[in-house]
Amino acid sequence: MEKKEAQERIEQLSEEINEHNYRYYVLADPSISDYDYDMMLEELQRLENKYPEFASKNSPTQRVGGQITKKFPSVRHRYPMLSLSNTYSREEVMAFDQRIKKAIDEEYAYVCELKYDGVAISLAYEKGELARAVTRGDGVQGDEITANVRTIHSVPLKLRNNPAEMLEARGEIYMPHESFLNLNWEKKKKGEKVFANPRNAAAGSLKVQDSGIAASRNLDCFIYAAYGEDLPFSSHWESLQTLKKWGFRVSEDIRLCKTIDDVFGFINEYANKRSSLPYDIDGVVIKLNSYAQQEAMGYTSKFPRWAIAYKYKAEQAITILKDVSFQVGRTGAVTPVANLEPVVVAGTTVKRASLYNEDRMADLGLHKGDRVFVEKGGDVIPKVTGVDAGQRPDDAEPVAFASQCPECGTQLKKNQAVHYCPNSEGCPPQIQGKIEHFISRRAMNIESLGQGKTGLLLSKGKINNIADLYDLTYKDLIGLEKTIINPDTLKEKKISFRDKTVKNILDAIEKSKNVPFERVLYAVGIRHLGETMAKKLARHFGNIDSLMNASREELLEVRDVGEKVAESVIAFFEDKGNREIIERLKEAGLQFHTTAGEESRPAGGPLEGKSFVVSGVFANFSRDGIKEFITKHGGEVKSSLSSKTHYLVAGDKMGPEKRKKAQSLDIPVISEEELQQMAKE
Ligand code: IVH
Repeated sequence: MEKKEAQERIEQLSEEINEHNYRYYVLADPSISDYDYDMMLEELQRLENKYPEFASKNSPTQRVGGQITKKFPSVRHRYPMLSLSNTYSREEVMAFDQRIKKAIDEEYAYVCELKYDGVAISLAYEKGELARAVTRGDGVQGDEITANVRTIHSVPLKLRNNPAEMLEARGEIYMPHESFLNLNWEKKKKGEKVFANPRNAAAGSLKVQDSGIAASRNLDCFIYAAYGEDLPFSSHWESLQTLKKWGFRVSEDIRLCKTIDDVFGFINEYANKRSSLPYDIDGVVIKLNSYAQQEAMGYTSKFPRWAIAYKYKAEQAITILKDVSFQVGRTGAVTPVANLEPVVVAGTTVKRASLYNEDRMADLGLHKGDRVFVEKGGDVIPKVTGVDAGQRPDDAEPVAFASQCPECGTQLKKNQAVHYCPNSEGCPPQIQGKIEHFISRRAMNIESLGQGKTGLLLSKGKINNIADLYDLTYKDLIGLEKTIINPDTLKEKKISFRDKTVKNILDAIEKSKNVPFERVLYAVGIRHLGETMAKKLARHFGNIDSLMNASREELLEVRDVGEKVAESVIAFFEDKGNREIIERLKEAGLQFHTTAGEESRPAGGPLEGKSFVVSGVFANFSRDGIKEFITKHGGEVKSSLSSKTHYLVAGDKMGPEKRKKAQSLDIPVISEEELQQMAKE
């Protein structure tokens, strides 16, 4: 093919694919088969490979991702990204309407939209092509995440019908429920921590460095505003209609309302429809329609006076508490779980809800058979938020916290608010937790043995500890089978060890013998030994024998090693079972000494060099879980605030004194979500 001809074909194919993409993802009205679409895309990719000079950044082939962004540059917004004033009260919506009525001495109308629960995005188009996608950030400047946003099929890369030269479209990127359930299912299988809700999952997916991963997350986007000079519309409603014509995905669930009664009609309608939408919303946004009237109302420093968000309360239901069971986590932490008479909340049937810890249970004063309030906010795990004690029969039995481990019968111990099972070597979920930590990517990286598979090996008695992994043979594994059920979707999935799976597993186990000492030390699971600390100890002592024989004083000589780590290392090596396992791992050929010029990973994780104090109760983590999360990402956890602390991670019920102390020391107070975000950067 001639060069010129190739260029023309590339342009023609791009245009046609864009059109089909628009029909499929924006209009949901495809006109060709998936196969024909894939064939066109393949042809385009082939031509672009051959003639890279004609491959544009906004070619439809770029949707599959593959670009790596090490750091997302900070970009100033051309128009600041304001937020909305929020209310849960209908009276305040009435008062908002009264303010408008008073200020606007003529007819007016509102546009009602859904308040999508995702991540705000600003899309800048130059000459009709996507130039930049920027997060809200602090409203003045945000992070440029164009490569990741380009992978979202409903975000047009090229606009249709001659739009303005310069245009900024604003909208919300969100993760549909189906994508969210699939993603968490995959994460669970791999033994990774799941996302608490679709919003966190969307935010996390937009900040991945590899846009190929962003592409696999199946995000979606609704556009709800346009900014620019001389745009050809004078009201919000018109802007939405025009945005559709330009190729943007605008929700169909919008309404032009002439009266505040119509607005309440919309609010009531979607309070019911909300649970059947395929994505999360947390309310309704009410916007004055005419641009001239919007101008007349003006802005406060934070939000427009011409719009308000009415937020739906978290959905609640009342049901009966059957009993309370106790779940043992990987670290041995025991969590109380309420078993409920099934009840539908926010569109899903809830049978179990978290009770967090003994203190929370005591606050609720639960009795068997109580009528309890169950709430499902945006998060995966529902909560018990209250008890209707007035309805309680006189002879109802109070619920007591377990005294023994429900998995292995060991007497539980208590550390602050958290109970734990001290039988770390014999308690099944703890054994599984240890093995999963050992094989995880940052430890021994035996990823082909993800969660479902370790569970299968344990249940079939093929392994009982980490050293057993190195005795596994082809014969032990081939043909093993198990059906597991995704607790969220209740879909069944069969795991079976066929030839290729077994070879991959054995291969990964063999390769793990080359993992450097510092990671082996992290992998064996010494309590309180995060990646950074393991690295420091490995470098200081050089080999496992010196470390095993080190006294408390010698350990404390290592920079940043405190009492807790020193004691934990000593306790680990004093244990006969642990010493046997180390011996077996040595015999298997794992690295137990540093080698000259050894290539170790440069950073211990995104939180390296930062120290944290955690306080309060967390929604996504147990107390030990959040500490483990910090150390796993390279940070250090300290027990009390000092001028050297970098951050205070505040959960629910943190005492006011802690906050005051942090403020007096100038220590930023962050939420668990902000911590999770930091760990991703
Ligand atoms: S309009 C100046 N419309 O809510 C007004 N925002 O507090 C700008 N959001 O993070 C926002 N759905 O991303 C608007 N239909 C909608 C929305 C919406 C969700 C988010 C927005 C921002 C927050 C505003």
